[in-house]
Amino acid sequence: QVAPRKLAVQVPEPEVEDLTQKKVTVFFGTQTGTAEGFAKALAEEAKVRYDKRVIFKVVDLDEYGADDDEYEERLKKEKLVLFTLATYGDGEPTDNAARFYKWFVEGKESRGDWLSGLNYGVFGLGNRQYEHFNEVAKKVDQALLDQGAKQLVPCGLGDDDQCIEDDFAAWREQLWAALDPLLIDANDATPAVTTPYTAAILEYRVVIHDNETKVVEEMYDPKVNGHAMHDVNHPCRANVAVRRELHTPESDRSCIHLEFDIRNTGLMYGTGDHVGVYPENLPENVEEAAKLLGYCLDTRFTLHADDEDGSPLGGGGSLVPPFPGPCDLRTALARYADLITPPRKAALAALAAHTSDATERDRLKFLASPLGKDEYQQWITANQRSLLEVMIEFPSARPPLGVFFAAVAPRLQARYYSISSSPRFAPDRIHVTCSLVYGVSPTGRFHRGVCSTWMKNSLPVTEVGSKCSWAPIFVRQSNFKLPADPTVPIIMVGPGTGLAPFRGFLQERAYLKESGQTLGPALLFFGCRNRKLDYIYEDELNGFFENGVISGLSVAFSREGPTKEYVQHKMVGQASTVWEMLSGGGYLYVCGDAKGMARDVHRTLHTIIQEQDSVDSTKAEAIVKQLQTEGRYLRDVW
Ligand code: 2AM
Repeated sequence: QVAPRKLAVQVPEPEVEDLTQKKVTVFFGTQTGTAEGFAKALAEEAKVRYDKRVIFKVVDLDEYGADDDEYEERLKKEKLVLFTLATYGDGEPTDNAARFYKWFVEGKESRGDWLSGLNYGVFGLGNRQYEHFNEVAKKVDQALLDQGAKQLVPCGLGDDDQCIEDDFAAWREQLWAALDPLLIDANDATPAVTTPYTAAILEYRVVIHDNETKVVEEMYDPKVNGHAMHDVNHPCRANVAVRRELHTPESDRSCIHLEFDIRNTGLMYGTGDHVGVYPENLPENVEEAAKLLGYCLDTRFTLHADDEDGSPLGGGGSLVPPFPGPCDLRTALARYADLITPPRKAALAALAAHTSDATERDRLKFLASPLGKDEYQQWITANQRSLLEVMIEFPSARPPLGVFFAAVAPRLQARYYSISSSPRFAPDRIHVTCSLVYGVSPTGRFHRGVCSTWMKNSLPVTEVGSKCSWAPIFVRQSNFKLPADPTVPIIMVGPGTGLAPFRGFLQERAYLKESGQTLGPALLFFGCRNRKLDYIYEDELNGFFENGVISGLSVAFSREGPTKEYVQHKMVGQASTVWEMLSGGGYLYVCGDAKGMARDVHRTLHTIIQEQDSVDSTKAEAIVKQLQTEGRYLRDVW
C-alpha cells in the first residue's frame, strides 16, 4: 500500500458542471513525468482539435478518489476515459497508480460488467527489454474490457528502448480517428483540424533579479496535520553521515556505502523499503549548461507559471515551476535540470524555436519530425547523445530560461535504492549500497551516472563536519519484506548491489536472534566477480554466518575461474535444499538486475522445481505462479 501523497499539481474542479459540454478524463500513471506529459499533450491537442467544445481533464490517478468507493462512484459517471500508464521494474504500476491498479485490476471479478457505458483508450509506457513489457497498461486494458467498457483503439505499447514519442504519435492518430465521430457533431460549425498539430511550446515567465536579492531555499520539512510526511514531492533534507568505498583498491570499479542521517527528519523506514534520492549534477556540467544558455551562474531569477491573461499555462494549471524563486542559476541547473539524458523530440522542437541559424534550426526541426525518425534514432538514441552534447552541436540555439526549464531540460528525477540497513539495527540512519555508473558513450563522451557520482564525491560529516553533503530524500514502501514468522525458511538471491536489502534482512534477523527469538533456516546466494576485488561486506556476511543469522552462504565468483559461475549455478548445486525449503512453506527473494540475472534465476527456479518435484514444465510453471500469488516469491529488481 502506497501512502497517499499530496500533489504539487492540483486539478481544479469546475465549479458548476456544464452538462451540455462533452468531457473526456485523461488519467496518468507516472513516475518520471513522461506519462503525465503525454496526458497533458493530449489535452493540449484536443483544445485545438475540438476548439474547446470538449473538456479534456487531466487527472492524477491518486487524486481521483480517496478510497475504492470514491473510485467506483466517480468512474461510474464517466463516459469517455483515456489512460497513459507506465510500467516499472517487475511489471509494477507507478506509485501514483498503485492504489487504483490494485482496486481496478485485482477486484474486477467481483464487479461484473458495470462499465458498459464507458468508452476508453489506453497508452502504455514501457521498455521491451523487460520481461513484463507494458504489463500495467495491458492489464488495465483487459480489466476495462472485462468490466464491459468499449475499447476505442488497441492498447498502445510504447517502447522506451526505441522512440516512445513516435509510438505515442502513432497511437494518437488512431485515437483521434476514433474520437472524432464521438466528439464532433455533424452540424457543428467548425470542423476538426485537418492539419497535423504541432505542440505549443510551454514556457515559464521569467523575472531576473539583481544580485542583491536574497535567494530562497526550498523547504524540506513539510508538516501535514502536524506530522512530517515525506514523499517524492516532499522530500526532506538529510546529511551524509558516512561514505565508504566497498571495493578493494585493486578494483577498477567502485561501489559506495553511504549512510544518511535521518535524526529529527520525521523520516521512517522499514527493512526492504526503498529510498529516493535527489542528486546534484556535476559542477562541470552545470558550468557548461550556463555557458550554452549565455547566463552567468550567479544570475538570480524566479519562474512564474502564469501567462499574460493570468491563466495558468499548459492546460489545467499543469505547469507548476520546478523550484521556488528567487533562485540562482547554479542551484537551478545543479538540482532541477536533467542535463545528461538524451533529449526527447519535444525538447528538440523547443530548441529549434529559439535557434537563430537557419541551417541549425532546420536540422533540429528535422530531428524532431516524424520524417527524422531514423536520424533521431541513430544520432540521438543510439549514440546516447546527452542534452548538453546536442546543445554544443547547435551553438545558435539559445533558449530563454523560461523555455529551457519548461520544455528543454526535464526535471532531474529522484533515484531509487534498496535500503541496505534495518531500522532495528540503524534507527537513525538509512544505508545505501550503490555501484558507480560510468563508461564511454558511443560519441566518446565519458558518461558518469548523476546520482552514483554525487554519492562517490559526497563529503560525509565524519570528514568535514557541518559542511557535509546533503540531499533531499524520501522513503518508498515496498512489499519486499521478511515473513512475519522468523522461523519460516528463507532463500535470498542477490548478486552485486542486489545484496543491499538482504543486508537489512540479516541485520533484522541478528536483532531478533539477540532478543531471544528462534530463527528458521536462511540461505544467501551472493555473486561478484572476484573475491579480492568486489566481495562487498565480506566480513559482515561471514560474521552473520558464524553467528547463525544465516544457515548457508553461497558465493559465486564469476571471473575467477575459466568459466563463469553465477548465483543460479550455486542454486542448482543446492537444488534439493532449495526445493525442500520452498515446498515446506519457505520464501524466495531475488534482488538485482531484471534483464539478465532475475530472468535467469527465474528459469533456474522453474528447472529446479521440475526436476526436484518430478513434474512437467506446465506443472512447474503453475507452482511458480502459486508461490508468487502467495507472496512467497518476491522480487526487487531494476
Ligand atoms: P559478470 O559481470 O562476470 O558477468 C554482480 O554483478 C555479479 O552478477 C557479477 O559477478 C556478474 O558477472 C554477475 N552476473 C552477470 N550476469 C548475470 C546473470 N545473467 N545471472 C547471474 N549473475 C550475473
